Order: sequence, then structure tokens, then C-alpha cells
Amino acid sequence: MWSSSAVARNTAVLLTISLLQLARGISIVKSGVSNYSFPDDFIFGVGTAAFQIEGGWNEGGKGENMWDTKLHSEPTITVDHSNGDVSADSYHHYMDDIEMIKKLGVQAYRMSISWTRILPNGTDNNINQEGVKYYRTIFEELLKANITPVVTLYHWDMPTPFIALGGWINAKVIDYFEDYARVAFRLYGDLVKMWLTINEPNENCKNTYEYYKLPAAVKLQGVEIYICTHNSLRAHARVYRMYEKEFKPDQQGKVSIVLESAWPEPNDPNKPEDVEASENYLQMQIGMFAHPIFSEEGDYPRVVREKINNMSRLQGFARSRLPYFTDEEVTALRGSADFFALNHYSSMTVSPLKEDYYWKDLSYYNDTGVHIQVDPFWTRSAAFWQYIYPPGFRKLINWLQNNYKILREIPIFITENGYIDLGGTEDYERVDYYNDYLYQLPLAIHEDGCNVKGYFAWSLMDHFEWRDGYTIKFGLYSVDFNSPNRTRTPKLSAYNYANIVRTRRIDFDYIKRPENLNTTTSKLAK
Ligand SMILES: *[C@@H]1O[C@H](CO)[C@@H](O)[C@H](O)[C@H]1NC(C)=O
Ligand SMILES: *[C@@H]1O[C@H](CO)[C@@H](O)[C@H](O)[C@H]1NC(C)=O
Ligand SMILES: *[C@@H]1O[C@H](CO)[C@@H](O)[C@H](O)[C@H]1NC(C)=O
Ligand SMILES: *[C@@H]1O[C@H](CO)[C@@H](O)[C@H](O)[C@H]1NC(C)=O
Ligand SMILES: *[C@@H]1O[C@H](CO)[C@@H](O)[C@H](O)[C@H]1NC(C)=O
Ligand SMILES: *[C@@H]1O[C@H](CO)[C@@H](O)[C@H](O)[C@H]1NC(C)=O
Repeated sequence: MWSSSAVARNTAVLLTISLLQLARGISIVKSGVSNYSFPDDFIFGVGTAAFQIEGGWNEGGKGENMWDTKLHSEPTITVDHSNGDVSADSYHHYMDDIEMIKKLGVQAYRMSISWTRILPNGTDNNINQEGVKYYRTIFEELLKANITPVVTLYHWDMPTPFIALGGWINAKVIDYFEDYARVAFRLYGDLVKMWLTINEPNENCKNTYEYYKLPAAVKLQGVEIYICTHNSLRAHARVYRMYEKEFKPDQQGKVSIVLESAWPEPNDPNKPEDVEASENYLQMQIGMFAHPIFSEEGDYPRVVREKINNMSRLQGFARSRLPYFTDEEVTALRGSADFFALNHYSSMTVSPLKEDYYWKDLSYYNDTGVHIQVDPFWTRSAAFWQYIYPPGFRKLINWLQNNYKILREIPIFITENGYIDLGGTEDYERVDYYNDYLYQLPLAIHEDGCNVKGYFAWSLMDHFEWRDGYTIKFGLYSVDFNSPNRTRTPKLSAYNYANIVRTRRIDFDYIKRPENLNTTTSKLAK
């Protein structure tokens, strides 16, 4: 096991009893060891995504994806004008990565396959053997180390040839995605038993087609986002049913889709309209994807259907901006997941969007009808969108458990959760975040009866963060992006996480925080 001598060097305890944690009934910062432990069959893991860590953008026969192409032609799309050409260079350093994962002591590694590394043109007529070998070697090495690979097929890296087709807004891409998935199952299904079709289709659709208008978008706000939503769901169902029919009998693997939500705390929990705004947010953010798959009746949630239909009618559309599934599609989607994969990072406070003219604008945000704020007592991380409210994690899991009865039979895995800062290995704030958020899980399991069976920290190492480039960090390991070797160094949060994995409890005193520590990223909001 890992030496904790680096940890012991950090003496002097600081137990902050902060205001912010007294607000909204959060108990004070803990000390000592958590009373509850994680159950014996609970799986700990750590995650990454191909484009964010791999580099090797044109090596070993890889074809270009949307991000390669866009960042080369328009570098200003990232705040630091960086790209993913080298990134953490996992293409060459994957054995170092596996050593790092081993040192954490986790049982599983969530990673993604770069679509164009195995299918350079996106299509299955051209399979790149060098790319095929790259992932096969990684899966074999992970299994040798007793680490279960959990593999995402689509983590936002659309093959460049499909940009001209519109990406996910073109239904033909569903066929290409199915073909790609079939190749992956055939090539790796003997080794990989846990598959994730699409990572956060909600954020992918929102960011690509609504907010940032990434290359595949044709800029029809309030329209494309729902076509993308619709096609992502249809693509997921197609792949799930294909695996079920063609591979599951032999390979016995499990397949799901990764869904994401922040927790929307009602601005005033005593106001029914704020409670309703919270419910509306959840249905529009995660219910839109979860209801078709996990509910008994299937299809989009009724409130989502009604909201977007009503808005479309008001706006003069003869046809709703939210497409309809066929009966066959409703059936194919219902039950198309063997577990629930949840990503969660942040919370917000919500109330109804008041302006009576909001319906005139075509937008997802206005369809939602929810006004988003933050609690002034919550701490913010280095990302403008991340506000720390650990009980929100437990509330979200409970909301899912209460909404989808099937979660009594199939488990929830937390496939991403983590903290964002500006870098450095003495990441006391990340340590606190993991302690406080992980503390919520045994509560959800033991006190609320939620069926949570695993947790993947995001991320194994610092990486390329989309439009934020390399300016913000998520890693348990720091990566020196100025060194040609991309040297990796464990942060305090890595030692702390390894201790949680080893002891199955949270020891709030394991990393001793120096007194007078001036925090670099956290600040009270406003
Ligand atoms: C453990 O339980 C005791 C008694 O209820 C409580 O005082 C203490 O705060 C708990 N410790 C943690 C870390 O939750
Ligand atoms: C794949 O794309 C490359 C670059 O556009 C092209 O040169 C090549 O002919 C394509 N290969 C196949 C098999 O389609
Ligand atoms: C949609 O409009 C109908 C008819 O005006 C109304 O009864 C219903 O409450 C509306 N639904 C939503 C979710 O706004
Ligand atoms: C949404 O509605 C608000 C008013 O409630 C308006 O200020 C805003 O511009 C609208 N449009 C978008 C794209 O959010
Ligand atoms: C990079 O790694 C090589 C081989 O381990 C080593 O010789 C070299 O000194 C390293 N360079 C830097 C800048 O760390
Ligand atoms: C932290 O910041 C305060 C105020 O700027 C300063 O007085 C103090 O010396 C700093 N402490 C350390 C350990 O740097």
C-alpha cells in the first residue's frame, strides 16, 4: 500500500466551523473517522476521457475528431488558446497511468475510447489496427492489475467527417454510432464488461448546439438541442439493444448511459413555487434522459413534453420543438440500462423565471422556466459553475431513487464527482471536497436505503478541460504540462482518496491542514 509519510509531514490541525456549512442545515466540518463505512461490495474507481488526456492526435493512424479540427482552425475557442494535441500524453504514458491507478488502490478505471483512433474516418469500413492494439493493451494491463475497465464509447469526440452532417442532429449518425459500438464490442467485449454509451448527452447537446455552438451546430437555438437529445437517446437504445442481442449472451457485460445533474435547492423551501422550480429543473436537466430509460411508463416526462409543446405553440410553431418517439422507440428505450451512471459536481438555488415575456425567446433555458442563482454562503471552486453543497449530492441520489422504482433492482454508480482548482499538489480544498461529498454516500446508503454501489473520482490526473484548456485542474495527480515527459505527481487528495479506498471510511484528520492556510481558489460567492 501507499506510503502516507508525505501526509504525516503536514501537521497542525485546522477545524473550520464555517458559516456556510451552518446555512441550510449542513453540520459543521467533521473531525475523526466516519461512523459508517462503505459496504464490502462497494466499488471505488477513478475516471478520465480520451480527448482530455491522450494526445497523440495524429499518431498511430488516428483520424481527426471535432475537437482536433476546431482547435486547429480556431485556437481562440479555448481560454488559453491550447489544444489536445499532446495533453497529458497518455498515448505514450499509459503505463504510468496504470501505475497511478494501482497506487490509489481502486478496483475500477473509467476511461473512453477515441472513436477516430479505432475508426479514423468514423465509419467501420476502415479499422485502424494500431489504435485497436493501443486500447487492447490498456485493458489487458488493467486486468492484470485487477482493475476493472469501465469504458465510455462517446465522450464528446465526434469524428470530423460527421461535422458536416451536423453531428448528433443528423439521424444518420445514429447508424454510424451503432456501427462503431459494434466494432468496439467485437474487439474488446471479452475484456470489457461495463460499457457506457454516451457521456452526459444533456451537457453535450447543450454545449454543442445551444451555448457554445461548436462546429456541428447550425445555430437554431432552442431547436437543435432537442434534436440532439432525441438522437442521443435513440442512439443509446439502438446500441443497448444491439449489445443485448448480439453480444450479451456470450459476453455477459452491462451497458448504461452517463447522466448528469447539479442539485437544484429551492431558493425558499417554504415556497411551493420554488419547490416546483426545483422539480422542473430536475425533469428538464436529467429527467428528460432518465425518464425514457428508467421510468415504468417510458418516454419524456409529462412536464417536459407539456412545457416544450406549450412554448412551441405560443411561439407559433405548428409542431413541437421536442420531437416524438415512435412506439417502438419508447419500448426500446424503456429498461435500456443495466445500472444508473450519475455524474454530479455542484448545486444551485432555484425559483421560477418570472418575466412574462420569456417565452418569446427560443431557448432551452427559457423552456425550463427556472431562474438559477446560488446561495451566498456556498463556496465556489475555480470553475464559475461549481458551488459546494455536499448534501445536494445525497438529495439528488434520493430524488432518483424515489422517481425510478427500477433503482431498487439495478444499482447507481457515481461515474464522476470531483473538485476544480488552479493547480498544485497541496490541494487541501480538493481533500475537503472529497471527504465531504463521499461522506454523503454512506448516509444515502445506510440511512436512506439508496442503492449506490460504486464511485469514480474525477479525475485521475489534470487534463485538457474543453474550452477552459489547461487553466483549471481536476486531477488527483498533477501533470507538469511544461515538461516534455508530462511528469505526474500525486496530490494530497490522491493520498487521501487512497486512504478512503483502503479503510472504506472517511478520516477527516488524515490530511492535516496547516493553520493560516490562504486558500487560492475558494471564496465566498459575492
Ligand atoms: C460519529 O457518531 C458520533 C455519535 O453520534 C458523532 O458525535 C460523531 O460526530 C460522528 N462522527 C462523524 C465523523 O460523523
Ligand atoms: C479516410 O479518410 C482519409 C482522410 O480524409 C482519406 O484519405 C481516406 O481515403 C479515407 N479512408 C477510407 C477507407 O474511407
Ligand atoms: C400547458 O398548457 C396547458 C393548456 O394551456 C395547461 O393546462 C398546462 O398546465 C400547461 N403545462 C405546462 C407544464 O406548462
Ligand atoms: C430568456 O428569458 C429571459 C427573461 O426571462 C431573457 O432575459 C433572456 O434573454 C431569454 N433568452 C435566453 C436565450 O436565455
Ligand atoms: C524525461 O524522461 C527521461 C527518461 O526517463 C529522462 O532522462 C529525462 O531527464 C526527463 N526529462 C525531464 C525534463 O524531466
Ligand atoms: C494569509 O493572508 C493574510 C492576509 O492577506 C496574511 O496576513 C497572512 O500572512 C497570510 N498567511 C500565510 C500563511 O501566507
